Amino acid sequence: MKPADMSLSPDPGHGGAVEIAERVHWIGAFDPWLRNFDLVLRTERGTSYNAYVVRGNRGVAVIDTVKAAFSDEFFRRLESVAQYEEIQAIVLNHLEPDHTGALPELLRRAPNARLYLSARAKPMLKGLLHADSLPVTPVITGDTVDLGGRSLSFLTTPCLHWPDTQCTWLEDAGVLFSGDAFGSHVCDARLFDDAVGDFRRDFDYYFAHLMRPFKAHVREALDLIDPLPIRTLAPAHGPVLRETPQYYLRRYRQLAGPAEQPEGRLKRLHVFYLSAYGSTRAMAGVLAAGAESSGLHVSLHDLETCAPDLLIDLVEEADAIAIGSPTINGDAVKPVWDLLSSLNAIELRGKFGAAFGAFGWSGEAVPLIEERLRGLKLRIPLPGVRARLIPTPEELAACRRLGVELAKHLTGKADHRVIDMATLA
Ligand code: FEO
Repeated sequence: MKPADMSLSPDPGHGGAVEIAERVHWIGAFDPWLRNFDLVLRTERGTSYNAYVVRGNRGVAVIDTVKAAFSDEFFRRLESVAQYEEIQAIVLNHLEPDHTGALPELLRRAPNARLYLSARAKPMLKGLLHADSLPVTPVITGDTVDLGGRSLSFLTTPCLHWPDTQCTWLEDAGVLFSGDAFGSHVCDARLFDDAVGDFRRDFDYYFAHLMRPFKAHVREALDLIDPLPIRTLAPAHGPVLRETPQYYLRRYRQLAGPAEQPEGRLKRLHVFYLSAYGSTRAMAGVLAAGAESSGLHVSLHDLETCAPDLLIDLVEEADAIAIGSPTINGDAVKPVWDLLSSLNAIELRGKFGAAFGAFGWSGEAVPLIEERLRGLKLRIPLPGVRARLIPTPEELAACRRLGVELAKHLTGKADHRVIDMATLA
């Protein structure tokens, strides 16, 4: 079935390349029916795999390729503007297979090409191609490739969204080839931001899932990118941003801003819990009261009724979280895992965590939650509290102490620990 969406027809360039700047062409491919990207992103509007050709007086550079299944479309567009023998440089801004699928065949067809990629990409390339003698030049910020009368220069911008990522700058045309950064999963053959419809929601959604975990890296990249006189942002997915590139740069600056930490505000603890019969709820309450009495700003959230989409924002701005779950069938309950599995989209390093919960038989929920929180790089300074069935006054007192001690750790008032080496495995 052919796509019915008018935006997917006609094919730009009639199957050939599309000029985006002087002697710079888009040679990508459209994937209108993709509905899920990297298993985690919804792509209800499909996507595009953007690749580009830059022509100089002495040769041609290809910037990125496409997913393997779309190779024919890529090579057809490439052949409409360049001969394979002219290709001097293949720039890989990012090695994920949606951009390197056509690379093995391109290397076979372009005998004079040299690969330019970040230093961190080099070992990854070996894992991708399993070849020992590739013509590879690792590059860092400031390195350039002369194409004759114009040159490409590189910006090392790691973790947007893999460690290997970089951007490539074509100064004379004001084009920044930004890899996944500034992309969106939108398949629209009108190609340019001034021609496609409103895709701001797609742009923000893409950022939230791909870039948000790496906000600090985004800010560092923007520090490199902002001084450039950019006329066109050419990302690896979605519309080419030529009308208002500065809007998208500012939007990334907004989206990548650190969580607000107004001076003098109390440290924040969010307590998330579920409770089948009220026991874990009671534990949550006394833990919260203990933390509040020790100077924290505390919020309680019953996961049975919370809207999950909002919780991640709360966690991002929190200084600490405590999670309470009963143990059912030897495990924490599903809403707790739903919350925990969503947290890899934000930066958690340096936050504190704690776990608690009531149980009937075995009580695995608390150590399982702690293990996951450690895996997410939270600090777990105190052992969790468990209570069998109905918490005793002593167990509730232990929960309150957990809140108090957590507060002391957050406010820097905790006693220093003396680690007995004999207790370390
Ligand atoms: Fe578009 Fe990270 O690949």
